[in-house]
Amino acid sequence: MHAIYDEYEIKAKDFIRAGEGSIKIKNTLKSLGLKSDIIKCVSICAYESEMNVVMHGGEGILSLIVDDTGIIIEVRDNGPGIGDINLALKEGYSTAQDLYREMGFGAGMGLPNIVKNSDSVEIFSQKDKGTYLIISFWIDQGDR
Ligand SMILES: Nc1ncnc2c1ncn2[C@@H]1O[C@H](COP(=O)(O)OP(=O)(O)OP(=O)(O)O)[C@@H](O)[C@H]1O
Ligand SMILES: [Mg+2]
Repeated sequence: MHAIYDEYEIKAKDFIRAGEGSIKIKNTLKSLGLKSDIIKCVSICAYESEMNVVMHGGEGILSLIVDDTGIIIEVRDNGPGIGDINLALKEGYSTAQDLYREMGFGAGMGLPNIVKNSDSVEIFSQKDKGTYLIISFWIDQGDR
């Protein structure tokens, strides 16, 4: 497999195009012939992190890196940052506004689901500067 590096723009508050990057990532992984289990895990993580940028973050970039050993999803935005990362990782914790809750978001399950569906997650964030997530997945024999 040749290495892949793709980048997708994420626009703050753009609910029309929200999720497009994650769909493209899913299609790329399908075209590589990976098994549906690993594609599902990566897609969930890409979608949840993309939606977090749309809702809570600022302008952002979603990227996909693939080689023979694994898959990395990187998501960075120039938004307000996460004040307390440990708190943000707790199931049910959400600062989503009422408008977003009415749209069905704000269960506080995005980050916990990213942790559950990946092999490792690193979160870097600074107040008023932005947030940077690195989400990694090993590709094992069974994933091909
Ligand atoms: N990119 C980001 N920039 C700023 N804050 C963020 C970002 N991502 C997450 N957060 C903060 O972490 C909290 C928890 O995120 P999480 O994805 O778990 O839940 P949620 O987005 O509020 O709800 P859900 O994902 O279930 O719709 C958010 O409510 C927000 O306060
Ligand atoms: Mg979320």
